[in-house]
Amino acid sequence: MLKGKKILLSICGSIAAYKSAFLCRLLIKEGAEVQILMTKSATSFITPLTLSTLSKRPVYTDVSSEESWNNHVDLGLWADAMLIAPTTATTLSKLATGNCDNIVVATYLSARCPVFFAPAMDLDMWVHPATQHNVTRLKSYGNHLIPVEHGELASGLVGNGRMAEPENIVEHLKHFFATEQSFTGQKVLITAGPTYEPLDPVRFIGNHSSGKMGVSLAEKLASRGAKVTLVLGPSKLTPSNAIDTIRVQTAQEMYEASHQHFEDCSVAILAAAVADYRPKNIADKKIKKKNDELFLELEKTQDIAASLGKIKKEQLLIGFALETNNEIENAKKKIVRKNFDFIVLNSLQDKGAGFNHDTNKITIIHQDNKIRHFELKSKDAVAVDIIDEIAAIQATKNTKTVV
Ligand code: PMT
Repeated sequence: MLKGKKILLSICGSIAAYKSAFLCRLLIKEGAEVQILMTKSATSFITPLTLSTLSKRPVYTDVSSEESWNNHVDLGLWADAMLIAPTTATTLSKLATGNCDNIVVATYLSARCPVFFAPAMDLDMWVHPATQHNVTRLKSYGNHLIPVEHGELASGLVGNGRMAEPENIVEHLKHFFATEQSFTGQKVLITAGPTYEPLDPVRFIGNHSSGKMGVSLAEKLASRGAKVTLVLGPSKLTPSNAIDTIRVQTAQEMYEASHQHFEDCSVAILAAAVADYRPKNIADKKIKKKNDELFLELEKTQDIAASLGKIKKEQLLIGFALETNNEIENAKKKIVRKNFDFIVLNSLQDKGAGFNHDTNKITIIHQDNKIRHFELKSKDAVAVDIIDEIAAIQATKNTKTVV
């Protein structure tokens, strides 16, 4: 799984840095290309000479040397993964705040690849709220935590805080790359954004959806190899060229585009906030201000989710529920009514969740009522959680088929 993968192994100043030599050897044994970066303090624990001998590449300890500028931007673009092991409390804080005063943080900020961090520190440092806050923040940016392990620490104390063993770190990366392309060959349909239901040539009924949640899902699925069709309501976002984006305005247009692309997809994720009602009559001229009151007659739009739920065969159908009260109960009803395999609940009662934010806080509820709660994260990181949930269902289905 790691054959040919380009890995930036970034080492910080911790006694656990000696394990990075083993880690480097294991990665190379798995067929990876390893480029070592070190903070200055890491060089007090293990020498660049040891690591350059093992990695067969020069080791970078600074953004520039007397002879050259070590291009952290190029390094960040070169890598398939950046692995920061060990990550000290200081580096955690610098990564979380973007405090770019060494080559590891500079490269991290430039990297477009997945980033893994394996903390190492004493047990009290590990549980300190400041450290935990930084870990949460880093995870919310979509970075991957390789959990600390329990055992004897350099201080002689016993507890959580040891850097994961090199073998476990390698397993973590192998698992990541094994699942990374797991959607290759699959077509995925996603709806996202609001719908605008016109009243007259200048006005509409709409909502605050930005499309961010659905676009994050689309980008993450495309990066795992899926061919993604995104039916996107009016949104300022510009999805990447990797995604086949169909722009629509109304619930009816979204309904038609979704049905057109549903049949040959393996997964459909309905993240759009679709209007439930639309004006029965659309005035062909701007409605003039006349009386004190104006009554609008509304009619139901078509329920895209429910209609797809009726015709689905092998497809996984994933819905969203944006609720303000009785959240779980309401979401469960929607699973049944719309025949979802699972529903992603976000509540407007949670700060930072729902419309327009860059973050979301979700609960996944399955058909069998199994519930998983997640913490507040970036919408990119939330998308990864949702996709992992889909991949897990598909893996179970495949296992059953093989048996
Ligand atoms: O776009 P963002 O700003 O990032 O915000 C993301 C989000 C809050 C819009 C998203 O996370 C979300 O919750 N989307 C669903 C919001 C919603 O309107 O839910 P609902 O409870 O009305 O609908 C339930 C499900 O049925 C949804 O999957 C919805 O897409 C679908 N539906 C609803 C009505 C309809 N006519 N057709 C549908 O397909």
